[in-house]
Amino acid sequence: MHLPKAELHLHIEGTLEPELAFALAERNGVALPYATTDELRAAYRFDDLQSFLDLYYALMAVLRTEEDFAELVDAYLARAAAQGVRHAEIFFDPQAHTARGVPIGTVIEGLGRALERSEETHGVSTQLIMCFLRDLSAESALGTLDAAKPYLHRISAIGLDSAEVGHPPAKFREVYEAATALGLRKVAHAGEEGPPEYIREALDVLGVERVDHGLRCLEDPELVERLVADRVPLTLCPLSNVRLRTVDTLADHPLPAMLAAGLHCTVNSDDPAYFGGYAGDNFDAVRDALALDPEQLRTLARNSFEAAFLDHDEERRARYLSEVEAYAFD
Ligand code: HPA
Ligand code: ZN
Repeated sequence: MHLPKAELHLHIEGTLEPELAFALAERNGVALPYATTDELRAAYRFDDLQSFLDLYYALMAVLRTEEDFAELVDAYLARAAAQGVRHAEIFFDPQAHTARGVPIGTVIEGLGRALERSEETHGVSTQLIMCFLRDLSAESALGTLDAAKPYLHRISAIGLDSAEVGHPPAKFREVYEAATALGLRKVAHAGEEGPPEYIREALDVLGVERVDHGLRCLEDPELVERLVADRVPLTLCPLSNVRLRTVDTLADHPLPAMLAAGLHCTVNSDDPAYFGGYAGDNFDAVRDALALDPEQLRTLARNSFEAAFLDHDEERRARYLSEVEAYAFD
């Protein structure tokens, strides 16, 4: 729980807890189809990625103003800091907001306002990763990248999320080329529900530096060999995998085998308000279900800082890494 760690796979909209959702709904005069927070929580039973996404997008209707986005970030950072997170690279889904008539500037300035004071307020360094919804068109993604140009000083990287199957990475080749030209770093969700081929495409066609999830690489031994040889970080999300039924139970999660294979695994929370826990909860859960020993946990924490986009601040990375080495398990 308190082991210093970087969170590299976290959708800020997925940190919207029922209590905050109801508070924002009331403040903004948005009607929710649930009477109470308990009733809403009871709806958090998912069959697959799409059944989760349906609720995730619906609940975002309560997010309308800069202040709403800033509050969302502050609530997340407080929880993350309490669970040992020292650095967070945070996804957001601009198209899920602009499609509802919320201007992209409202989204980014609201998030940015809270993020720029996060070191001071929460002791957490942060970066922002703008994700494109892969079930929308490449044109829509290009338009979003263009609309984000006045705010690029707040954005480190781009990502790709939402419904994976049927929307291969290559669909977004042009978008990733344009982002590269703008100096942005690149990640993408691949191999969560989609096949190993999507992971190859994300690497070869999009040039991603980390793969988000990447779980299904295990079906392709040659791909595993390549990921190990190139030390490509995978941002795994164990509790998410159970809730979205990509693994049956946490005890069945292949994380130990992936570590043993030499894959550069990290443990993250994905959408913690929906999947039963934040970064530290994920660490505790895999420790308990998979009997990970302290050195395996330390490796996961070390991996997280090694995979972080901290190339511009190697001193900070070294400081975080020395905190990991100095951590005493009790
Ligand atoms: N996968 C794809 N898209 C997402 C996810 C996820 O786990 N969470 C939020 N958007
Ligand atoms: Zn995700």
